[in-house]
Amino acid sequence: MPGESLVIVGATGLVGRTFLKVLDERNFPVERIKLLASSKSAGTEIDFKGDKISVAEFNINQFQRGDIALFSAGAQLSKEVAQTLASNGVTVIDNSSAWRMDSSVPLVVPEVNPLDANWNKGIIANPNCSTIQLVVALNPLRSIASINQLIVASYQATSGAGASALEEMKQQSEDVTHGRDISIDEFPHQIAFNVIPQIDVFEDLDFTKEEWKLVNETRKIFDDQNMLISATCVRVPVAYGHSEAIHINLDKPISVQEAKHVMSAGQGLTVIDNPNNMEYPLAINAEGKMMYLLGE
Ligand SMILES: NC(=O)c1ccc[n+]([C@@H]2O[C@H](COP(=O)([O-])OP(=O)(O)OC[C@H]3O[C@@H](n4cnc5c(N)ncnc54)[C@H](OP(=O)(O)O)[C@@H]3O)[C@@H](O)[C@H]2O)c1
Repeated sequence: MPGESLVIVGATGLVGRTFLKVLDERNFPVERIKLLASSKSAGTEIDFKGDKISVAEFNINQFQRGDIALFSAGAQLSKEVAQTLASNGVTVIDNSSAWRMDSSVPLVVPEVNPLDANWNKGIIANPNCSTIQLVVALNPLRSIASINQLIVASYQATSGAGASALEEMKQQSEDVTHGRDISIDEFPHQIAFNVIPQIDVFEDLDFTKEEWKLVNETRKIFDDQNMLISATCVRVPVAYGHSEAIHINLDKPISVQEAKHVMSAGQGLTVIDNPNNMEYPLAINAEGKMMYLLGE
């Protein structure tokens, strides 16, 4: 079967390796695949569909017209090269924050606004992880009511900050448990046995960049600049799986039963909501999935 020509940029990272896992699980038709990362990982071998593929150092000459490039190597690299690649006939699907708020670039979550991908000019952005799960959860409700106001608090896993951050949480947990000194490189404070109410830098009104991403990206995806949104983003010592507590104010009353009904049919959602049996979403069960508990 003929397939696509793919280039994975940031292939050795947590997100890059997840791209490969999902492409494999979905049996995405791949004719040719290149794996790129920094010079540090050049020569590393990664398994894909039973083949060992050698990672090459990133270089703009590695791309060909018609390639689909999945970028997950930080915003700086995406800013530097995405437009040049797009004008040379490469479709860049960018996982970083570089292009999300650019009005000429669609910001797409396939379960929510897939058709926006059609007006791309060579770059398609995908949102921050905490925005993705928020909009996927709320989208089905928008078929029965409009959202006037949204207040969200996140409990974000350390994997969201990359492979080294996840490693730091594990190492600190061991060091604290054994009474050893800890080192802090990836987070503003100790993350083991702690929660940190800061993700990224502080910006306007003392909200963090992560909190503004949730606000602005959600408005862009839902195409509603008037939606009132307030976000509080907190890092917690969880390995994988972000959790969120979301309160919404709708333009008309709906029952929990109605909400459950439409959300259960929503794309990409599993509703787990049986408090009497202590059944609700748990981060440890959430890796690779999305799950929701509903309440009044
Ligand atoms: N949209 C989302 O849901 C979401 C979620 C998490 C992360 N992200 C974003 O995705 C990106 C990667 O996250 P991650 O968790 O995978 O981080 P990570 O585990 O730290 O991996 C970073 C990857 O980028 C590569 N890289 C770094 N600098 C590079 C350069 N100058 N040239 C080529 N490759 C370079 C690294 O290669 P080496 O191994 O050689 O260093 C590695 O493959 C970040 O931009 C992050 O903000 C998005």
